[in-house]
Amino acid sequence: MEPPDSTSPPTPQAPDDPVVVSGIQPSGRLHLGNYFGAIRQHIELHKQHDAFYFIANYHAMTSVDDPDRIREHALDVALDYLALGFDPEEAALFLQSDVPEVTELTWIFFNHLPTSRLQKGVAYKEKVDAGLTPNAGLFNYPVLQAADILIYGGSRVPVGSDQKQNIEIARDIARRFNKTYCPDDPLFPIPEPHILDDVAVVPGVDGRKMSKSYDNTIGIFDDGDELQEKVMSIVTDSDPLDAPKDPETCNVFALIDLFADEEKTKEIAQKYREGGYGYGHAKQELLGLIEEHFAEARDKREELKQRPDYVRDVLREGAKRARKRVEPMMERVRELTGLVRTH
Ligand code: ADP
Ligand code: TRP
Repeated sequence: MEPPDSTSPPTPQAPDDPVVVSGIQPSGRLHLGNYFGAIRQHIELHKQHDAFYFIANYHAMTSVDDPDRIREHALDVALDYLALGFDPEEAALFLQSDVPEVTELTWIFFNHLPTSRLQKGVAYKEKVDAGLTPNAGLFNYPVLQAADILIYGGSRVPVGSDQKQNIEIARDIARRFNKTYCPDDPLFPIPEPHILDDVAVVPGVDGRKMSKSYDNTIGIFDDGDELQEKVMSIVTDSDPLDAPKDPETCNVFALIDLFADEEKTKEIAQKYREGGYGYGHAKQELLGLIEEHFAEARDKREELKQRPDYVRDVLREGAKRARKRVEPMMERVRELTGLVRTH
Protein backbone atom coordinates (compact mmCIF):
# COMPACT_ATOMS: atom_id res chain seq x y z
CA MET A 1 0.00 0.00 0.00
CA GLU A 2 1.21 3.49 -0.83
CA PRO A 3 2.43 5.29 2.32
CA PRO A 4 0.73 8.65 2.94
CA ASP A 5 3.16 11.51 2.33
CA SER A 6 4.25 13.58 5.32
CA THR A 7 1.95 16.46 4.38
CA SER A 8 -1.14 14.27 4.39
CA PRO A 9 -3.89 15.24 6.78
CA PRO A 10 -4.71 12.85 9.59
CA THR A 11 -6.24 9.70 8.22
CA PRO A 12 -9.82 9.38 9.41
CA GLN A 13 -10.20 6.36 11.62
CA ALA A 14 -11.54 3.45 9.65
CA PRO A 15 -14.88 2.82 11.32
CA ASP A 16 -15.00 -0.28 13.52
CA ASP A 17 -17.71 -1.59 11.33
CA PRO A 18 -16.55 -1.10 7.76
CA VAL A 19 -18.80 0.12 4.99
CA VAL A 20 -18.31 -2.32 2.15
CA VAL A 21 -18.60 -0.99 -1.41
CA SER A 22 -18.02 -2.73 -4.71
CA GLY A 23 -19.19 -2.73 -8.29
CA ILE A 24 -19.24 -5.10 -11.20
CA GLN A 25 -19.48 -4.12 -14.85
CA PRO A 26 -22.37 -5.52 -16.90
CA SER A 27 -20.16 -5.91 -19.94
CA GLY A 28 -20.58 -9.66 -20.43
CA ARG A 29 -21.47 -12.90 -18.68
CA LEU A 30 -19.88 -13.33 -15.27
CA HIS A 31 -17.13 -15.92 -15.03
CA LEU A 32 -15.15 -17.92 -12.48
CA GLY A 33 -12.54 -15.13 -12.22
CA ASN A 34 -15.26 -12.69 -11.20
CA TYR A 35 -16.69 -15.22 -8.77
CA PHE A 36 -13.52 -16.15 -6.88
CA GLY A 37 -11.89 -12.73 -7.26
CA ALA A 38 -14.85 -10.65 -6.15
CA ILE A 39 -18.42 -11.98 -6.01
CA ARG A 40 -17.82 -14.69 -3.42
CA GLN A 41 -16.39 -12.05 -1.07
CA HIS A 42 -19.33 -9.73 -1.86
CA ILE A 43 -21.80 -12.41 -0.85
CA GLU A 44 -19.92 -13.25 2.31
CA LEU A 45 -19.37 -9.65 3.45
CA HIS A 46 -22.89 -8.32 2.86
CA LYS A 47 -24.19 -10.50 5.67
CA GLN A 48 -21.69 -9.10 8.15
CA HIS A 49 -21.52 -5.39 7.32
CA ASP A 50 -23.27 -2.44 5.77
CA ALA A 51 -22.77 -3.05 2.04
CA PHE A 52 -23.46 -1.23 -1.24
CA TYR A 53 -23.04 -3.24 -4.45
CA PHE A 54 -23.85 -1.71 -7.79
CA ILE A 55 -23.97 -2.85 -11.36
CA ALA A 56 -21.49 -0.46 -12.94
CA ASN A 57 -23.33 0.44 -16.15
CA TYR A 58 -21.65 3.87 -16.44
CA HIS A 59 -18.32 2.07 -16.35
CA ALA A 60 -19.47 -0.51 -18.90
CA MET A 61 -20.15 2.37 -21.35
CA THR A 62 -16.39 2.90 -21.58
CA SER A 63 -16.16 -0.31 -23.59
CA VAL A 64 -19.67 -1.17 -24.82
CA ASP A 65 -21.88 1.10 -26.95
CA ASP A 66 -24.72 -1.34 -27.54
CA PRO A 67 -27.66 -0.23 -25.35
CA ASP A 68 -29.38 -3.63 -25.50
CA ARG A 69 -26.26 -5.35 -24.25
CA ILE A 70 -25.81 -2.92 -21.37
CA ARG A 71 -29.47 -3.31 -20.38
CA GLU A 72 -29.61 -7.10 -20.66
CA HIS A 73 -26.33 -7.76 -18.93
CA ALA A 74 -27.32 -5.45 -16.07
CA LEU A 75 -30.40 -7.55 -15.32
CA ASP A 76 -28.37 -10.72 -15.76
CA VAL A 77 -25.83 -9.57 -13.18
CA ALA A 78 -28.67 -8.88 -10.74
CA LEU A 79 -30.06 -12.39 -11.38
CA ASP A 80 -26.61 -13.89 -10.86
CA TYR A 81 -26.12 -12.14 -7.52
CA LEU A 82 -29.53 -13.17 -6.24
CA ALA A 83 -28.98 -16.75 -7.38
CA LEU A 84 -25.56 -16.85 -5.72
CA GLY A 85 -26.99 -15.85 -2.35
CA PHE A 86 -27.26 -12.07 -2.23
CA ASP A 87 -30.03 -11.25 0.24
CA PRO A 88 -31.73 -7.90 -0.51
CA GLU A 89 -32.87 -7.65 3.13
CA GLU A 90 -29.25 -7.43 4.21
CA ALA A 91 -27.72 -4.89 1.84
CA ALA A 92 -28.23 -2.77 -1.27
CA LEU A 93 -27.87 -4.05 -4.83
CA PHE A 94 -28.62 -1.43 -7.48
CA LEU A 95 -27.76 0.09 -10.82
CA GLN A 96 -24.93 2.61 -10.72
CA SER A 97 -26.95 4.93 -13.01
CA ASP A 98 -29.78 5.08 -10.44
CA VAL A 99 -27.42 7.24 -8.37
CA PRO A 100 -26.38 9.87 -10.94
CA GLU A 101 -24.77 11.95 -8.19
CA VAL A 102 -21.66 9.80 -8.67
CA THR A 103 -21.08 11.60 -11.96
CA GLU A 104 -21.31 14.95 -10.17
CA LEU A 105 -18.77 13.81 -7.60
CA THR A 106 -16.57 12.50 -10.42
CA TRP A 107 -16.43 15.99 -11.91
CA ILE A 108 -15.44 17.44 -8.55
CA PHE A 109 -12.75 14.79 -8.14
CA PHE A 110 -11.29 15.48 -11.62
CA ASN A 111 -9.99 18.71 -10.15
CA HIS A 112 -8.06 16.93 -7.44
CA LEU A 113 -6.06 14.44 -9.40
CA PRO A 114 -3.06 15.21 -11.60
CA THR A 115 -3.51 13.74 -15.09
CA SER A 116 -0.07 12.15 -14.68
CA ARG A 117 -1.65 9.76 -12.15
CA LEU A 118 -4.07 8.50 -14.81
CA GLN A 119 -1.41 8.38 -17.50
CA LYS A 120 0.34 5.73 -15.42
CA GLY A 121 -2.82 3.63 -15.32
CA VAL A 122 -1.99 0.00 -16.06
CA ALA A 123 -5.61 -1.07 -16.62
CA TYR A 124 -6.07 1.70 -19.23
CA LYS A 125 -2.98 0.63 -21.13
CA GLU A 126 -4.00 -3.04 -21.00
CA LYS A 127 -7.48 -2.29 -22.28
CA VAL A 128 -6.18 -0.17 -25.16
CA ASP A 129 -3.64 -2.88 -26.01
CA ALA A 130 -6.50 -5.39 -26.02
CA GLY A 131 -8.24 -3.28 -28.70
CA LEU A 132 -10.58 -0.96 -26.80
CA THR A 133 -10.98 2.58 -28.08
CA PRO A 134 -8.88 5.00 -26.03
CA ASN A 135 -11.79 7.35 -25.29
CA ALA A 136 -11.87 9.86 -22.42
CA GLY A 137 -14.28 7.68 -20.43
CA LEU A 138 -11.84 4.79 -20.42
CA PHE A 139 -9.00 7.12 -19.45
CA ASN A 140 -10.94 8.67 -16.57
CA TYR A 141 -12.49 5.38 -15.44
CA PRO A 142 -10.62 5.29 -12.09
CA VAL A 143 -12.01 8.70 -11.08
CA LEU A 144 -15.60 7.48 -11.48
CA GLN A 145 -14.60 4.41 -9.50
CA ALA A 146 -13.25 6.65 -6.71
CA ALA A 147 -16.56 8.55 -6.64
CA ASP A 148 -18.42 5.21 -6.50
CA ILE A 149 -16.57 4.22 -3.38
CA LEU A 150 -16.29 7.52 -1.53
CA ILE A 151 -19.86 8.67 -2.08
CA TYR A 152 -21.05 5.91 0.28
CA GLY A 153 -18.24 6.54 2.74
CA GLY A 154 -16.86 3.16 1.63
CA SER A 155 -13.96 1.90 3.73
CA ARG A 156 -13.55 -1.67 2.48
CA VAL A 157 -13.56 -2.63 -1.19
CA PRO A 158 -13.63 -6.34 -2.09
CA VAL A 159 -12.11 -6.73 -5.57
CA GLY A 160 -9.66 -8.87 -7.53
CA SER A 161 -5.97 -7.96 -7.44
CA ASP A 162 -6.11 -6.21 -10.85
CA GLN A 163 -8.12 -3.43 -9.19
CA LYS A 164 -5.40 -2.50 -6.71
CA GLN A 165 -4.20 0.52 -8.66
CA ASN A 166 -7.73 1.89 -9.03
CA ILE A 167 -8.21 1.68 -5.27
CA GLU A 168 -4.87 3.48 -4.79
CA ILE A 169 -6.24 6.31 -6.90
CA ALA A 170 -9.41 6.43 -4.78
CA ARG A 171 -7.24 6.62 -1.64
CA ASP A 172 -5.20 9.40 -3.16
CA ILE A 173 -8.30 11.40 -4.13
CA ALA A 174 -9.82 10.96 -0.66
CA ARG A 175 -6.63 12.27 0.97
CA ARG A 176 -6.35 15.22 -1.38
CA PHE A 177 -10.02 16.19 -0.96
CA ASN A 178 -9.82 15.95 2.83
CA LYS A 179 -6.63 17.96 2.89
CA THR A 180 -8.05 20.74 0.69
CA TYR A 181 -11.50 21.14 2.13
CA CYS A 182 -11.72 19.61 5.58
CA PRO A 183 -8.27 18.86 7.06
CA ASP A 184 -9.52 19.05 10.66
CA ASP A 185 -12.60 16.95 10.14
CA PRO A 186 -11.94 14.69 7.16
CA LEU A 187 -15.05 13.74 5.25
CA PHE A 188 -13.92 10.61 3.43
CA PRO A 189 -12.49 7.51 5.09
CA ILE A 190 -9.46 6.16 3.21
CA PRO A 191 -10.76 2.96 1.59
CA GLU A 192 -8.89 -0.32 1.96
CA PRO A 193 -8.90 -2.93 -0.80
CA HIS A 194 -10.00 -6.36 0.34
CA ILE A 195 -8.10 -8.81 -1.85
CA LEU A 196 -7.66 -12.50 -1.15
CA ASP A 197 -4.08 -13.56 -1.87
CA ASP A 198 -4.87 -17.16 -2.64
CA VAL A 199 -7.19 -16.25 -5.51
CA ALA A 200 -5.13 -13.34 -6.78
CA VAL A 201 -5.54 -14.32 -10.43
CA VAL A 202 -7.85 -17.05 -11.68
CA PRO A 203 -6.47 -18.50 -14.94
CA GLY A 204 -8.60 -18.77 -18.06
CA VAL A 205 -8.76 -21.77 -20.39
CA ASP A 206 -5.68 -20.49 -22.25
CA GLY A 207 -3.66 -20.00 -19.06
CA ARG A 208 -3.77 -16.18 -19.16
CA LYS A 209 -5.82 -14.24 -16.61
CA MET A 210 -9.47 -15.24 -17.06
CA SER A 211 -11.14 -12.19 -18.60
CA LYS A 212 -14.05 -11.29 -20.86
CA SER A 213 -11.58 -9.35 -23.00
CA TYR A 214 -9.52 -12.47 -23.74
CA ASP A 215 -12.42 -14.74 -24.63
CA ASN A 216 -11.00 -17.42 -22.32
CA THR A 217 -13.68 -17.58 -19.65
CA ILE A 218 -15.72 -20.31 -18.01
CA GLY A 219 -19.07 -18.77 -17.09
CA ILE A 220 -20.46 -19.24 -13.59
CA PHE A 221 -23.70 -20.46 -15.12
CA ASP A 222 -22.32 -22.31 -18.12
CA ASP A 223 -23.67 -25.83 -18.17
CA GLY A 224 -24.10 -28.98 -20.26
CA ASP A 225 -22.05 -29.28 -23.43
CA GLU A 226 -20.82 -25.71 -23.29
CA LEU A 227 -19.31 -26.19 -19.85
CA GLN A 228 -17.83 -29.55 -20.81
CA GLU A 229 -16.26 -28.13 -23.96
CA LYS A 230 -14.70 -25.24 -22.11
CA VAL A 231 -13.26 -27.41 -19.35
CA MET A 232 -11.89 -29.87 -21.90
CA SER A 233 -10.23 -26.99 -23.78
CA ILE A 234 -8.11 -25.87 -20.81
CA VAL A 235 -4.52 -25.72 -21.97
CA THR A 236 -2.07 -28.19 -20.36
CA ASP A 237 1.36 -29.46 -21.29
CA SER A 238 1.58 -32.67 -23.28
CA ASP A 239 3.06 -34.99 -20.64
CA PRO A 240 1.83 -38.55 -21.22
CA LEU A 241 -0.64 -40.17 -18.84
CA ASP A 242 1.99 -42.24 -17.01
CA ALA A 243 4.34 -39.35 -16.29
CA PRO A 244 4.43 -37.75 -12.84
CA LYS A 245 3.12 -34.19 -13.10
CA ASP A 246 3.61 -30.95 -11.22
CA PRO A 247 0.24 -29.70 -9.96
CA GLU A 248 1.66 -26.25 -9.18
CA THR A 249 2.16 -25.39 -12.84
CA CYS A 250 -1.13 -26.82 -14.12
CA ASN A 251 -4.10 -24.58 -15.03
CA VAL A 252 -6.59 -27.38 -14.36
CA PHE A 253 -5.19 -27.92 -10.89
CA ALA A 254 -5.27 -24.17 -10.17
CA LEU A 255 -9.02 -24.25 -10.79
CA ILE A 256 -9.54 -27.49 -8.85
CA ASP A 257 -7.76 -25.85 -5.93
CA LEU A 258 -10.39 -23.08 -5.87
CA PHE A 259 -13.32 -25.48 -5.69
CA ALA A 260 -12.10 -28.48 -3.69
CA ASP A 261 -11.65 -28.64 0.09
CA GLU A 262 -8.17 -29.07 1.51
CA GLU A 263 -8.31 -32.83 1.77
CA LYS A 264 -9.50 -33.32 -1.79
CA THR A 265 -6.91 -30.86 -3.12
CA LYS A 266 -4.13 -32.76 -1.36
CA GLU A 267 -5.40 -36.07 -2.69
CA ILE A 268 -5.44 -34.80 -6.27
CA ALA A 269 -2.00 -33.17 -5.92
CA GLN A 270 -0.66 -36.54 -4.84
CA LYS A 271 -2.23 -38.27 -7.84
CA TYR A 272 -0.53 -35.73 -10.12
CA ARG A 273 2.87 -36.42 -8.53
CA GLU A 274 2.49 -40.20 -8.61
CA GLY A 275 1.83 -40.36 -12.36
CA GLY A 276 -0.80 -42.52 -14.04
CA TYR A 277 -3.25 -39.64 -13.62
CA GLY A 278 -3.90 -37.78 -16.86
CA TYR A 279 -5.15 -34.27 -17.57
CA GLY A 280 -8.38 -35.82 -18.85
CA HIS A 281 -8.98 -37.26 -15.38
CA ALA A 282 -8.25 -33.90 -13.78
CA LYS A 283 -10.65 -32.17 -16.14
CA GLN A 284 -13.43 -34.64 -15.32
CA GLU A 285 -12.80 -33.99 -11.65
CA LEU A 286 -12.99 -30.23 -12.22
CA LEU A 287 -16.20 -30.54 -14.24
CA GLY A 288 -17.84 -32.43 -11.38
CA LEU A 289 -16.67 -29.86 -8.85
CA ILE A 290 -18.02 -26.92 -10.87
CA GLU A 291 -21.37 -28.60 -11.41
CA GLU A 292 -21.72 -29.46 -7.74
CA HIS A 293 -20.61 -26.04 -6.50
CA PHE A 294 -23.18 -24.11 -8.53
CA ALA A 295 -26.01 -26.68 -8.61
CA GLU A 296 -28.19 -24.87 -6.08
CA ALA A 297 -27.47 -21.42 -7.55
CA ARG A 298 -28.33 -22.72 -11.02
CA ASP A 299 -31.75 -23.94 -9.86
CA LYS A 300 -32.39 -20.69 -8.07
CA ARG A 301 -31.42 -18.69 -11.15
CA GLU A 302 -33.89 -20.62 -13.29
CA GLU A 303 -36.61 -19.90 -10.78
CA LEU A 304 -35.76 -16.17 -10.52
CA LYS A 305 -35.67 -15.84 -14.30
CA GLN A 306 -39.42 -16.35 -14.24
CA ARG A 307 -39.80 -13.37 -11.90
CA PRO A 308 -38.25 -10.34 -13.68
CA ASP A 309 -40.51 -7.97 -11.72
CA TYR A 310 -39.03 -9.21 -8.48
CA VAL A 311 -35.48 -8.62 -9.77
CA ARG A 312 -36.42 -5.06 -10.79
CA ASP A 313 -37.99 -4.47 -7.36
CA VAL A 314 -34.77 -5.55 -5.68
CA LEU A 315 -32.78 -3.06 -7.77
CA ARG A 316 -35.31 -0.30 -7.12
CA GLU A 317 -35.23 -0.85 -3.36
CA GLY A 318 -31.43 -1.02 -3.45
CA ALA A 319 -31.29 2.30 -5.28
CA LYS A 320 -33.57 3.88 -2.68
CA ARG A 321 -31.24 2.78 0.07
CA ALA A 322 -28.22 4.05 -1.82
CA ARG A 323 -29.75 7.43 -2.58
CA LYS A 324 -30.69 7.92 1.04
CA ARG A 325 -27.06 7.49 1.91
CA VAL A 326 -25.78 9.72 -0.86
CA GLU A 327 -27.97 12.79 -0.30
CA PRO A 328 -26.41 14.05 2.96
CA MET A 329 -22.93 13.17 1.67
CA MET A 330 -23.40 15.26 -1.49
CA GLU A 331 -24.93 18.14 0.47
CA ARG A 332 -21.77 18.21 2.57
CA VAL A 333 -19.52 17.97 -0.52
CA ARG A 334 -21.32 20.90 -2.18
CA GLU A 335 -21.11 22.94 1.00
CA LEU A 336 -17.40 22.24 1.41
CA THR A 337 -16.53 22.99 -2.20
CA GLY A 338 -18.60 26.18 -2.48
CA LEU A 339 -21.22 24.87 -4.86
CA VAL A 340 -24.08 26.93 -3.45
CA ARG A 341 -27.57 25.83 -4.26
CA THR A 342 -30.19 28.37 -5.21
CA HIS A 343 -33.12 26.06 -4.63
P1 ADP B 1 -13.08 -8.89 -16.85
O1 ADP B 1 -11.57 -8.88 -16.81
O2 ADP B 1 -13.60 -10.22 -17.26
O3 ADP B 1 -13.65 -7.75 -17.68
P2 ADP B 1 -13.93 -7.33 -14.62
O4 ADP B 1 -12.84 -6.35 -14.88
O5 ADP B 1 -15.35 -6.93 -14.94
O6 ADP B 1 -13.58 -8.68 -15.37
O7 ADP B 1 -13.83 -7.78 -13.11
C1 ADP B 1 -14.86 -7.80 -12.14
C2 ADP B 1 -14.25 -8.24 -10.82
O8 ADP B 1 -13.75 -9.57 -10.92
C3 ADP B 1 -13.07 -7.36 -10.38
O9 ADP B 1 -13.08 -7.21 -8.97
C4 ADP B 1 -11.88 -8.17 -10.81
O10 ADP B 1 -10.73 -7.90 -10.05
C5 ADP B 1 -12.35 -9.60 -10.62
N1 ADP B 1 -11.69 -10.49 -11.58
C6 ADP B 1 -11.87 -10.51 -12.92
N2 ADP B 1 -11.12 -11.46 -13.50
C7 ADP B 1 -10.43 -12.05 -12.50
C8 ADP B 1 -9.48 -13.13 -12.47
N3 ADP B 1 -9.12 -13.78 -13.56
N4 ADP B 1 -8.97 -13.49 -11.27
C9 ADP B 1 -9.36 -12.85 -10.13
N5 ADP B 1 -10.26 -11.84 -10.09
C10 ADP B 1 -10.79 -11.43 -11.26
N1 TRP C 1 -13.56 -1.44 -11.99
C1 TRP C 1 -14.28 -2.53 -11.42
C2 TRP C 1 -14.06 -3.78 -12.30
O1 TRP C 1 -13.71 -3.70 -13.44
C3 TRP C 1 -15.76 -2.27 -11.30
C4 TRP C 1 -16.04 -1.15 -10.37
C5 TRP C 1 -16.61 0.05 -10.71
C6 TRP C 1 -15.77 -1.10 -8.98
N2 TRP C 1 -16.73 0.84 -9.60
C7 TRP C 1 -16.22 0.18 -8.54
C8 TRP C 1 -15.20 -1.99 -8.07
C9 TRP C 1 -16.07 0.57 -7.20
C10 TRP C 1 -15.07 -1.60 -6.74
C11 TRP C 1 -15.51 -0.33 -6.30
O2 TRP C 1 -14.28 -4.82 -11.83
